[in-house]
Amino acid sequence: MSKNKLLYEGKAKQLFTTDKDDQLIQFFKDDATAFNKKKHEIINSKGVLNNLISENIFKYLGENGIPNHFIRRLNEREQLIKKVEIIPIEVVVRNKAAGTFTKRFGIEEGLDLPETLIEFNLKDDEHDDPLISDEHIKVFKWANQSEIDDIKIKAILINKYLTELFNQIDILLVDFKIEFGRFSSNGKTEIILADEISPDSCRLWDTKSNEKLDKDRFRRNLGGLIEAYKEVATRLEIDLSNF
Ligand code: TMP
Ligand code: ASP
Repeated sequence: MSKNKLLYEGKAKQLFTTDKDDQLIQFFKDDATAFNKKKHEIINSKGVLNNLISENIFKYLGENGIPNHFIRRLNEREQLIKKVEIIPIEVVVRNKAAGTFTKRFGIEEGLDLPETLIEFNLKDDEHDDPLISDEHIKVFKWANQSEIDDIKIKAILINKYLTELFNQIDILLVDFKIEFGRFSSNGKTEIILADEISPDSCRLWDTKSNEKLDKDRFRRNLGGLIEAYKEVATRLEIDLSNF
């Protein structure tokens, strides 16, 4: 698969065109950012671990009937993906209170939410990814009502499968962020899961010790980020022998 030109550069990944119009290469960088890039560091090998973990999770979700952009992993930092038109919305799913949710409402971290909560943030670094409602999404035409409904149904299902997956390995899925895109083939357009799912985009707590196994280690200067991501990969039975 030939890697052609850089199409998009985000905070933690790059997307390259390939010889096929409907396929891209997704490259995982070592950049760690938080608070909309106010905090930034290079953490050696983080991209390699996220590539492996995201591959594992997308395959698992695919096996459970969640359509997604993953085709195959190419090497330690790259995967081949379906080209989608990204819907510019960060879909945040919360099972317990943490992060910006606790700050916004002045509540304690770890508080159980009586039901799973879905929030939307606009993907717009310049304006600090503002929290938006379904109404904003429709007024600005980022997606229509049936797409919003589809995204919510898929987000709840993804939460169910991920919660089960992590439960089995003694990890509590506190919250996570996902992105969706429109994939068109044979004149049909479908909303599919895109981007990545990794400890960069989830809050994962060890169920016994409550230890944080995610990017909060970086956000809160706790150290040990690579060790934590390796622990997640190992529990997911990802082969780290070449790592
Ligand atoms: P938050 O508490 O900072 O709003 O984040 C909720 C979840 O979404 C958490 O698991 C981190 C993830 N997330 C991202 O991956 N990227 C982002 O830009 C944001 C705002 C959150
Ligand atoms: N990913 C976002 C940033 O780079 C926010 C976060 O995850 O804390 O600032």
